[in-house]
Amino acid sequence: MPLHVLAVASELYPLVKTGGLADVAGALPGALAAEGVAVRTLVPGYPGVMAALDDAAIVHEFTGQDCVTLADGPARLLSGHAGGLDVFVLDVPHLYARPGNPYLGGDGHDWPDNGLRFAALSQVGARLATRLLAGYQPDVVHAHDWQAGLLPAYLAYGGRRAPPCVLTIHNLSFPGLFPASKLARFGLPLVAYSIQGVEYYGQISFLKAGLHFADAITTVSPTYAVEIRGPEAGMGFDGLLRARGDRLHGILNGIDTAIWNPAHDAALAAPYDAADPSPRALSRAALQARMGLDADSSALLFGVISRLTGQKGLDLLLEALPALLATGAQLAVLGNGDPVIEAGFRTAVAANPGRVACFIGYDEGLAHLLQGGVDALLVPSRFEPCGLTQLCALRYGAVPVVARVGGLADTVIDANAAAMARGVATGIQFAPVTAVALTAAIERTAALHADRAAWRAIQRNGMAADVSWAGPARQYAALFRSLTGAA
Ligand code: ADP
Ligand code: GLC
Repeated sequence: MPLHVLAVASELYPLVKTGGLADVAGALPGALAAEGVAVRTLVPGYPGVMAALDDAAIVHEFTGQDCVTLADGPARLLSGHAGGLDVFVLDVPHLYARPGNPYLGGDGHDWPDNGLRFAALSQVGARLATRLLAGYQPDVVHAHDWQAGLLPAYLAYGGRRAPPCVLTIHNLSFPGLFPASKLARFGLPLVAYSIQGVEYYGQISFLKAGLHFADAITTVSPTYAVEIRGPEAGMGFDGLLRARGDRLHGILNGIDTAIWNPAHDAALAAPYDAADPSPRALSRAALQARMGLDADSSALLFGVISRLTGQKGLDLLLEALPALLATGAQLAVLGNGDPVIEAGFRTAVAANPGRVACFIGYDEGLAHLLQGGVDALLVPSRFEPCGLTQLCALRYGAVPVVARVGGLADTVIDANAAAMARGVATGIQFAPVTAVALTAAIERTAALHADRAAWRAIQRNGMAADVSWAGPARQYAALFRSLTGAA
């Protein structure tokens, strides 16, 4: 008998994505299927989701009584398939029929009704978990991040027998804060507004609600699971996470190794594999041409693929840039986000034409070409719950150069003397996360790159690393089964 899981996520690759949450929510169902776990994912009916939906059936029409969060207009639940996934789609035009980024309006600011939009997603998730539909009853609910954080609270106050609920933290820096005055609007009882509920320093925090009420909490790497019990990475939730420490698990992310496969990747100039990565040179030349870098076949080429935010530490890279250029290296940056960091990279390109290039924007194909063409991928994050780009880099033979935090610490083996002697190094780590330490790491990378045999060994080890979902999916399946007593 398969175990049935209802996943609830605000992003789902390939339908809607702003970051790694989408990749995880999109890849886990396939990996869990191999473990006898059948996942159906509830997503908001954004335009991109509605357009991708095949063989959709209306399975429920909501009334205000059903879900107070949906009382302002027509709302229905669809069931079908999209992007190769089994989905429930919450079709509520007044909340979700908005193009572009799922959280931001055209002015770049959060939609003012984001609280209601994701309370509704969670409330419908809770209803689906408790026999909204005849013939559908999940064994476990899996809620992702603050956008689904209220779900376990609705289950707790719903007065119905509910299945166990797992909350996965992808990023603790998004607490989902909304004014206390919205409590009734979100359909929560007065009693919920307490420390033993959804209250968080005088406001409602969706994430806090999830952390308090979930039966189990996971986060996306073992090291982040430890870090967030402390004040710095805990970002105000460390006390609660310490108190719930026996329910907190770190399970690493994987990547979809069918989508990220250099042997079959149309975005590359030529396919390659671990046995012979030499065709990377063709992708490197294509990348240099496309991004406007000098056609230099020997310079060490560093890459970045990232949201440009404080989390990712790319302001430190701007500080370290003179040292990077002094080694003779080139830099290619793909990313968008904070206008100040974007402007910093544009200025760096103008000052160093042919040596520094950036594409400010979001481009999946370019991300693949970059992974297949750069020598080393820089990830200098101040904190990183897991990180996916270093996993793609390992698979594509781009040596990851990473801050020793969170999932970066767990997935890259530093090329220190012991690891080199044992032949197990897969990249370069640095700590603390400062421009000085990053500069030293860049210089170490340049020295290693100059030693062709050592570099090739690091690259080969990285390409042999298992970055798939197989192991993590086994851990999720075991956790889900333990919660249902079916372990
Ligand atoms: P986060 O979720 O914090 O942004 P992750 O490393 O977990 O970081 O996931 C980022 C995902 O988004 C990866 O799949 C990465 O390739 C992709 N990505 C980030 N920025 C861009 C971009 N500008 N263009 C294309 N893909 C991007
Ligand atoms: C978050 C984190 C990132 C993680 C991703 C998927 O966006 O910032 O580290 O890989 O979620 O879990």
